[in-house]
Amino acid sequence: MEDLGPVAWPPEPIRTERLVLREPGTQDRVAFIELASSPEVHTYLGGSRPRDEIEREMPEVPERWPGSFVVELDGKMIGHVLLRRATGHRRPAAAGRLDLGYLFLPRAWGHGYAAEACAAALGRLAAVLPDEPVVLTTQTANTPSMRLATKLGFTEVERFEAWDAEQWLGMRPPGRAVQVSRGGELPNH
Ligand SMILES: CC(C)(COP(=O)(O)OP(=O)(O)OC[C@H]1O[C@@H](n2cnc3c(N)ncnc32)[C@H](O)[C@@H]1OP(=O)(O)O)[C@@H](O)C(=O)NCCC(=O)NCCS
Repeated sequence: MEDLGPVAWPPEPIRTERLVLREPGTQDRVAFIELASSPEVHTYLGGSRPRDEIEREMPEVPERWPGSFVVELDGKMIGHVLLRRATGHRRPAAAGRLDLGYLFLPRAWGHGYAAEACAAALGRLAAVLPDEPVVLTTQTANTPSMRLATKLGFTEVERFEAWDAEQWLGMRPPGRAVQVSRGGELPNH
């Protein structure tokens, strides 16, 4: 993971009840194009770009960098979980912190996959960097993302205006493992 010191990369795949998290490979290129060009996925992320433009620009192995996890279900990519240093974050409370991001293909929404994958990635991180809080920024209008952030144990630091919308900055304190269930978050200290 970028600037994450002792975190080994590439990672051993992380296996959850239903999913595998692993580093991206050439086999994921089409799914990354789908993810990047989906208007639904980008509703609260500033809008999508034309597919042909994305196809031209997408490298053979997309998004292969420390902290970038492909989420796989039954051997196929369904989403992308990102953990990186928010070095250039515009809010002082988040600058330099570890930052969580998540994007899933619309057909994979509504099954708890994003929660399961993010909890697993945060768990791996916490095992190596137990003292690091994690931040997350999302539009307040992005209800599924706000719900997911809460389930994962993020609480509000502040709201701010950026990119023509109200943004929510959340933080998850260190040393906190969570299991996520349909009913919400089950703290597991
Ligand atoms: C944000 C995003 C990842 C959330 O996806 P999601 O599938 O709603 O999130 P979860 O994994 O938490 O799943 C929750 C839903 O699964 C349902 N679910 C079904 N089976 C479940 C199970 N076995 N376990 C848990 N939840 C389950 C829950 O009831 C819930 O449904 P609801 O929203 O109708 O209440 C998705 O909307 C997305 O990719 N958006 C586009 C990208 C984006 O905006 N990212 C945010 C910027 S960082």
